[in-house]
Amino acid sequence: MNNIWSENIQGVKTLYLSRKLRFDDFFYKQYEALFSLKPDKKLKILEIGCGPGALADALHRWYPDAEIAAIDRDSNFIEYAKENVPGVEFVEGDAAALPFEADTFDVTISNTVCEHVEPEIFYSEQKRVLKDNGVCLVLSARKGVVQTADCLKMTEDEKRFWESISDGENILEKYAVGKYYMTEKELPVVMENSGFADVSTGYAVIDLTPDNPKYSSGMAEDMINAERASKLEAVQSTKSKETSRIVDIINEKYDARIELYRKGNKQWDTDTSITMVIRGINRKGN
Ligand SMILES: C[S@@+](CC[C@H](N)C(=O)[O-])C[C@H]1O[C@@H](n2cnc3c(N)ncnc32)[C@H](O)[C@@H]1O
Repeated sequence: MNNIWSENIQGVKTLYLSRKLRFDDFFYKQYEALFSLKPDKKLKILEIGCGPGALADALHRWYPDAEIAAIDRDSNFIEYAKENVPGVEFVEGDAAALPFEADTFDVTISNTVCEHVEPEIFYSEQKRVLKDNGVCLVLSARKGVVQTADCLKMTEDEKRFWESISDGENILEKYAVGKYYMTEKELPVVMENSGFADVSTGYAVIDLTPDNPKYSSGMAEDMINAERASKLEAVQSTKSKETSRIVDIINEKYDARIELYRKGNKQWDTDTSITMVIRGINRKGN
């Protein structure tokens, strides 16, 4: 359908690696409590705006008996998800015109998508495809805590690079990214006004601090490398002649960070995010 997101906003690798961490089994208990689903029955779940499929993959692990479909309008994401995430039916399509019949799903779920789709159509489409008493789960990223290790601070060369390639174009505005952003107070009101009942909210804290001993070395290094991948992807997407020099600088910095981690030289850098979960019930009479 299109590749707007993967080519202009967040690449496949950036999204997949960062979300894979955020939906790691380590955080499952928090999500399980907030989702409050009944896994004893064979749930039919639809993920909307699934990107490359990290949440759908987690849902498949957490609800192994569920039948899961996931939709996104970006072809690159769907292609990647189909190749890398087993057990889920991935579909290319629009959240504003879901290609599913009415009363099909027990659960609809989305992560960081409600900010980008016009709320009236976002919710009315979910109401339509949800069964009576189906559960609508909307996940939205909230301001967290970010602290950068000294060895990862932006170098003067990188700053010059970014200044040189800035063409003044506002990509986020151009593609309506975050156009429908709402506060924590507004989100549940809109779900309620869209006809959902028993609306509730909750917050999951996803603490990505590699030096925290509660994480395995594999997970800690995945945190560092996920950030590396997102920085590299941003530079590579510019297609500037300077790309390979800046790529080397970034790799040197992240290699140094990994070395410090392996030596036990703690930096306590963190990317702790808060995921708000808004949950409502579809009462067909509403
Ligand atoms: C911030 S990304 C989140 C992706 C995924 N949920 C995740 O957490 O990795 C927003 C996603 O919404 C998708 N999206 C935006 N508008 C859409 C629409 N109208 N229909 C389907 N997908 C849409 C984008 O293609 C992108 O994959």
